[in-house]
Amino acid sequence: MILYTVGLSTRQNMYKMMMWLLLTLLSCGGLGGYFLQQQYAAKSAEFRIFYRDVTVKLAQLDAIMPLLPSGPYSREVRSLFPHIVQWRTYPVTEPHRSIVIATGGRYWLHVDGRALLIDLNVVVDRVSETIPFQQIAVVWQGQPVFTRGAAEGGEYWQWQKAIVSPSQPFVLRAGDNPAWGALPWLLILSPGPLWGAVLYLLHQYRINRRRRDMADLRAHYAELTRLNTLGELTAGIVHELNQPLTAILSYTQTALRLLLQQRTEPVPPLLEAAVVQIKRTDALLQQFRQKLVSEQADYQPIVLASLWQRVIMLLDNEIRRHKVAVSSAMAADLPALIAPPLWVEQILHNIAHNALQAQQHNAAGTAWIRLEAVPENDGILITLSDGGPGLSEAALQQVFMPFFTTRPHGIGLGMALADTLVQRLNGTIEAANIPGQGACFTLWLPRAHQE
Ligand SMILES: Nc1ncnc2c1ncn2[C@@H]1O[C@H](COP(=O)(O)OP(=O)(O)O)[C@@H](O)[C@H]1O
Ligand SMILES: [Mg+2]
Repeated sequence: MILYTVGLSTRQNMYKMMMWLLLTLLSCGGLGGYFLQQQYAAKSAEFRIFYRDVTVKLAQLDAIMPLLPSGPYSREVRSLFPHIVQWRTYPVTEPHRSIVIATGGRYWLHVDGRALLIDLNVVVDRVSETIPFQQIAVVWQGQPVFTRGAAEGGEYWQWQKAIVSPSQPFVLRAGDNPAWGALPWLLILSPGPLWGAVLYLLHQYRINRRRRDMADLRAHYAELTRLNTLGELTAGIVHELNQPLTAILSYTQTALRLLLQQRTEPVPPLLEAAVVQIKRTDALLQQFRQKLVSEQADYQPIVLASLWQRVIMLLDNEIRRHKVAVSSAMAADLPALIAPPLWVEQILHNIAHNALQAQQHNAAGTAWIRLEAVPENDGILITLSDGGPGLSEAALQQVFMPFFTTRPHGIGLGMALADTLVQRLNGTIEAANIPGQGACFTLWLPRAHQE
C-alpha cells in the first residue's frame, strides 16, 4: 500500500514536472517569439526607411543628370553631390549600356551621352551614419554592385526590395540577426517560476482537499464503527440479561402464587434463587460497564467444580422445566485456573444454555447435558455435550460468528462471546457433533494466563 502510494506519487510528480516544463516552454516560447517579432518589426521599419532614403538619393541622379554642366567634373557639383565621384561624356556611338559595375562599390551610370561614376559608399554613409544591419547589398541583375558587412545569406532575417528608378533598377538587400542580448530575458523566463508557483498552489490545494476528504471519511467510519459497537454491545446486553430475567420472573411468579396459597415454606429458596440471578445480572452489567470504561479484568483462582455448580444453579429454571439430566465427571487432579471467574462462568453458561435450548423439543426424559474435565497441557480440557439434535451443517461452520443463529428469537452472540472470551484467555474452543448423541463443545483453557 505504501509502495503503491510512493509509486503513484513519483509518477504524479513526473507528470507534474512534465506539465510544468510544457507550460513553461509554451509560455517562454510565446513571449520570446513575441519580443523577437517586435525586434523584427522594428528592423523592418528601419529597412523601409533605409530603402526610401537610398531610393531618393538614386532617383535624384535621374533628376539632376540633365542639369549637370557639360564641362568637366567640377568642385561645386562634388560638394553638392559627393557620391558623384567623376563624370565624363561618352560618344553615343558606343554600345549603349546604362550600368557598368566598377570596383569598390562604384558603378558607371550612362545616360544621354554622359557617364557618371557613382560611389554607393557615400550614398549609404550619407543616408545614415551607422548602418542598422549586419549586412547590406545593392544588386544589379544578380551581380553585387555594393556590399557591406558579413557575407550575404548567413543572416536570420532577410529583406529585399527593388529600387524604383528607370536608370538604376537595383535591388536593395539587407540581412540581420536578432539581438539576442537585447531581449528582455527576465520577462521571457518569468513564466517558469510563475507556472511553478501555480502548479505548487494547485498541488497544495489538492492535497488539502484530499486530506479534508480523508478526515471526513475517517470521521464517518469512526461514527459507523461506534454505532456498530454500540449495537453489538446492546445486543450482547440483551442476550445476557434475557436468561436471568426470565428466571427471576419465573421464581417470583412461583413465590407469589405459593404465598397466595398460604404456602410459605417453599418460598425462601425461590427468592434466594431470584436473588442469585439478580446478583448475576448486576455482575453482568458491571462487566459491560467495565468493557465500556476499561478492559481491566479480575483474575482469580477458579475451582471448576464449584463454578460448574453455579452455572447449573443459574440455569436451574430451564433444567427443571425440561427435566434435563445434568451430569459431570471431573478429574481429581484438576489444576485451579487463574482467570476472571465471570468469564469462565459465561463461557460455560452460554454453551450449557444452548444445549438446554436445543433439547426443548426432545422426548420427555431424553434431555441431558454432561461436563467432563481432565488436566491437559498445563491447563484443563473441558467437553460439554448434550442429547439434542446436534449442530446443523451451517452451524458447524459458523457457530462462533457473531449474529449467527438458527433460533427464531436468537441473537447469535452467545457463542461469539464465548469464543472471544476463550481467545482472551489464550484457550481454544471447537464445536462438533457426536453421532447418535448431540452437540459437543471442546474447550481448553490454560492454567494461568494474564492478559
Ligand atoms: N448445543 C447445541 N445444539 C445445537 N445447535 C447449537 C448448539 N449450540 C449452538 N447451536 C447453534 O449455534 C447457533 C448459535 O448459537 P448462539 O451463538 O448461542 O446464538 P443463539 O443462541 O442466540 O442462537 C444456534 O442458533 C444454534 O443453531
Ligand atoms: Mg445461545
